[in-house]
Amino acid sequence: MPVTRAPRGIDVRRVVACRMGHHRGMDRIETERLVLRPWRESDAEAAYAVLSHDDVWPWLGAEPRRCPDVATAARVLARWAELADDVLGVWAVEAPTMTGIAPSPCGSVLLLTLPRSDGHESEAVEIGWHLHPSAWGRGIATEGADALVSRARHAGLLRLHAVVREANVRSLAVCDRLGMARLGVTDQWYGTEFVDHVLDL
Ligand SMILES: CC(C)(COP(=O)(O)OP(=O)(O)OC[C@H]1O[C@@H](n2cnc3c(N)ncnc32)[C@H](O)[C@@H]1OP(=O)(O)O)[C@@H](O)C(=O)NCCC(=O)NCCS
Repeated sequence: MPVTRAPRGIDVRRVVACRMGHHRGMDRIETERLVLRPWRESDAEAAYAVLSHDDVWPWLGAEPRRCPDVATAARVLARWAELADDVLGVWAVEAPTMTGIAPSPCGSVLLLTLPRSDGHESEAVEIGWHLHPSAWGRGIATEGADALVSRARHAGLLRLHAVVREANVRSLAVCDRLGMARLGVTDQWYGTEFVDHVLDL
């Protein structure tokens, strides 16, 4: 993780094990219309509804796969909890005052270490988002991501990346709304080609 290096002599594996399940400093964040909070084990069905949706999963990750069942979604949530630290994490998005959105949480916004294609340790941080289609078209991704931009800035991060597939028009538009600079297609991250964006904080 770029922001939490263990001092010499500390057994990193033990530190990680102790912190698992506590979402390691992941705060609940409230915006005008949204609550961003850690995903919980009890959210597995909602996560499955999002991650198995055919308009969502093809855009996610280096090798997109449809989430096959609720048990797999629960394992994804457990992995996300392990990735959290005092700055980074995957936040569940709730829109308590908005109607017509299901499931709840309706998706995620995230700050995570951006893996380099060459396998070397990465100092880069990506911002990302995915929502159930019932939550699209209302500014939820941009509002949630904007809160994470503020969080990253206050934490002292200097730059965020967003990596998006070339055909993902809706996600490219979120990058534009956040004021990110589009750098073009690169294979520098995740071992595959994405359109890279940066936001200097
Ligand atoms: C990418 C994704 C999160 C974008 O969602 P989105 O709802 O289009 O994005 P925003 O939250 O920024 O919403 C913007 C839209 O809401 C509208 N909107 C309505 N009310 C709004 C409000 N109060 N404030 C801002 N925008 C509002 C905007 O006009 C815009 O509409 P448009 O799409 O017709 O131009 C969504 O398409 C998704 O989850 N896709 C699948 C997963 C994915 O691709 N993830 C990213 C991988 S890189």
